Amino acid sequence: MKPTNSPKTYRVKSFGCQMNVYDGERMAELLGEQGIVPAPEGEEADLVVLNTCHIREKAAEKVYSDIGRLTKAGRKVGKEPLIAVAGCVAQAEGEEIMARSPAVSMVVGPQAYHRLPEMLEKAVKGERATDTDMPAIAKFAALPARKKRFPTAFLTVQEGCDKFCTYCVVPYTRGAEISRPFADLVDEALRLADQGVREITLLGQNVNAWSGSNAEGDEIGLDGLIRELAKIPELQRIRYTTSHPNDFYNGLVRCHAEVYKLMPYLHLPVQSGSDRVLKAMNRSHTAESYLRLLEEVRAARPDIALSGDFIVGFPGETEAEFEETLALVEEVKYAQAFSFKYSPRPGTPAATMDGQIPREVMDERLQRLQAALNRHQLAFNEASVGKTCEVLVERKGKLPGQWLGKSPWLQSVWFEGECEIGDMVEVELVEAGPNSLAGKLRETVAA
Ligand code: 5AD
Ligand code: SF4
Repeated sequence: MKPTNSPKTYRVKSFGCQMNVYDGERMAELLGEQGIVPAPEGEEADLVVLNTCHIREKAAEKVYSDIGRLTKAGRKVGKEPLIAVAGCVAQAEGEEIMARSPAVSMVVGPQAYHRLPEMLEKAVKGERATDTDMPAIAKFAALPARKKRFPTAFLTVQEGCDKFCTYCVVPYTRGAEISRPFADLVDEALRLADQGVREITLLGQNVNAWSGSNAEGDEIGLDGLIRELAKIPELQRIRYTTSHPNDFYNGLVRCHAEVYKLMPYLHLPVQSGSDRVLKAMNRSHTAESYLRLLEEVRAARPDIALSGDFIVGFPGETEAEFEETLALVEEVKYAQAFSFKYSPRPGTPAATMDGQIPREVMDERLQRLQAALNRHQLAFNEASVGKTCEVLVERKGKLPGQWLGKSPWLQSVWFEGECEIGDMVEVELVEAGPNSLAGKLRETVAA
């Protein structure tokens, strides 16, 4: 590669999950520390970080097409950007990316991105660099302090996964489960609150597996962490995602009943309603044990909005087994959900299982599942009409005087009136759509 000038502008493009969004923000902060600024809207950046996702096929394909598009656009203006590929595709296919895409000068895994500045120094000299080490927690200590000018923020508390669901690449790309230390998390939350953040979403691949010791040296779980963060006066809302049914415990259920800052929303993936499929997926819970758990959570917090993840067309899934998934959906009545066609991931046990399902069958099942999930989402939104709730104002709407915020149940709410980003306002929900609600502003709740 040819040596080049030090980049002045950057753009970080994150794909996939919220953990990647968090990592993307932290990489942006890191580049900011180097004196590099975000590229103005509509302009090509000198440095582009593609923060990739490997969970399903399409995401990886998007990365290669993005690299192509960036190089072409760069050539047009006579300056090809420096390209760094980060995230889970970088972790899983680092060598392949380097071989396949000469335009890429840096490949950096999700546990190594704190070393981006050193790699950048090399890249400017024309040297290509790959770093896909997994040094557990070192990354967080090496990152600059958070800078955030938005009322909501993610906070990664736990990373990695030891569950080895047979379809999933995460245990290979994100490594083993680790929890960030309690004190670091409280520090980061305090700093965010100081900068105007009012709502924090605690993130982890298995966030409810978080454990640590508190200031007194006592072992605590995610419930203890939530209770501690709830003491920060400026923080008005706490959420967490994603949970695994097997790591759920009474203390966390009780938190939903007792901690009013913990929002009434739970994302608890089930993947399938068939016990045979769940076993083949190595989920180690049954449809029944999952439903019992939800019953407990609903008893603790009756208005809780439930959300889940589903995979259709797992190898060997029969029509009758798929119908068990539909039956579970009818029973739970999710407020929101994410559903996917099974995508074989190289190196995972399910990729070589017998009974791979034809694409047309998967398409048809996904359509039926999504029709049911959409019906329940709309019904949940319609049932909210008439309620008055607090809405955290996140941004301006499309029309003048219009605002957009989130209800406690994570619904998007549009309304008009006098307020500012970051305000907590009382809104009456007056009309429901499938993806959002219209509201009427009542009053601003003192922050
Ligand atoms: N194919 C389809 N969906 C998958 N997920 C994870 N791995 C795969 C795969 N190989 C889904 C699961 C998980 C969500 C983050 O992505 O539903 O909960
Ligand atoms: Fe993947 Fe299963 Fe771990 Fe979730 S729990 S990240 S689906 S292996």
